[in-house]
Amino acid sequence: MKVVVTGGLGFIGSHTVVELYRQGFEVVIVDNLSNSSIDVLTGIEKIIGVKPVFEQIDLRDKAVVTAFFEKHNDSIGVIHFAASKAVGESVENPLLYYENNIASLVYLLQELQKKKEAYFIFSSSCTVYGQAENMPITECASVQPAMSPYGNTKRIGEEIINDVAKVSGINAILLRYFNPIGAHETAEIGELPVGVPQNLVPFITQTAIGIRKELSVYGDDYPTADGTCIRDYIHVVDLAKAHVVALQRLIDHKNESKVEVFNIGTGKGSSVLEVIRTFEKVSGKPLPYKIVGRREGDIIEAYANTDRANQILGWKAQLTLEEALDAAWKWEQKVRNI
Ligand code: NAD
Ligand code: WQD
Repeated sequence: MKVVVTGGLGFIGSHTVVELYRQGFEVVIVDNLSNSSIDVLTGIEKIIGVKPVFEQIDLRDKAVVTAFFEKHNDSIGVIHFAASKAVGESVENPLLYYENNIASLVYLLQELQKKKEAYFIFSSSCTVYGQAENMPITECASVQPAMSPYGNTKRIGEEIINDVAKVSGINAILLRYFNPIGAHETAEIGELPVGVPQNLVPFITQTAIGIRKELSVYGDDYPTADGTCIRDYIHVVDLAKAHVVALQRLIDHKNESKVEVFNIGTGKGSSVLEVIRTFEKVSGKPLPYKIVGRREGDIIEAYANTDRANQILGWKAQLTLEEALDAAWKWEQKVRNI
């Protein structure tokens, strides 16, 4: 069965392409290379042994999207990763995010609603919960007003999908990711942040390899055990596998409603300092860091209640924080040819 993976040369998409191939799916990757490199295609090929089908397409071009789906009218659905995802950039340039993340989604759904039946897996984010009141966070936790235009595009995207699914043959699953980290065990694919990394783990690995002088820890005066923020760091390979399970659920018509929502995390919270200590343990390298002021917009803690994902979706994270940080470190060394 043919499935379209938008953003399939990106961090999470590339790992999902590998898992789709492993499960026997035929994959067509769509990516405009705005935040990835064509070298990722080579990395995927080295892992799966065949060159994936790739079409360089910008999903903001409606006519191009229509032509693509006419060509691939035998595709059964879409796993939609393609989006802009930098929170800070979204505040400075909101229209870039509303155009890229919303227009692309609309054009994709317009094509899928032409089909009698279509399956749609959407990359959402725990960011829609804002600072949830109760931990661990369940899917019933209220969706808060977005703290950034980026987060708003995820919230709006979920609402658009709900509205369209009601009046079309589209069946969808919204996966609300917590904090994806790590890389493939082969070190052939991983995270490729452009410029100075905004996220914790790529900044840690770039510090450890000497590209960055030291890590700034954004605050140690939070109401947590060690004063630093707590997140649910999930190995990107576990996250990728969740997409295959979700797609198969729709193919098998096991979904209980037209749109289902699942939190995809480990269910375990780790503080920034715990991540640092764990990285030092797996890499054998002391990590230079300093405590600085809080980062605007950071929430105190977020980790997933994974009961629905485990018991209904039938997926559970298998890999540990140590394994994810070890893979991230090996990938950093590979990227820098060390
Ligand atoms: P990424 O930037 O690595 O991958 C996104 C890919 O989409 C890139 O390869 C980019 O070139 C492509 N793309 C962007 N706009 C496009 C367009 N208009 N047309 C075609 N291709 C386009 O990001 P990622 O970390 O892999 O995230 C994938 C998805 O998961 C995104 O929707 C993101 O919002 C969501 N998400 C990510 C995280 C995270 O921490 N990485 C957390 C929660 C949700
Ligand atoms: C994690 C923790 C920081 C960098 C973001 C987006 C979210 C999603 C995932 C797309 C926080 C601390 C970080 C650093 C630090 N992306 N930190 N020094 O903020 O939980 O989520 O990425 O969907 O939408 O908001 O992840 O990795 O940026 O930060 O101390 O140099 O690490 O304060 O507590 P975050 P993060």
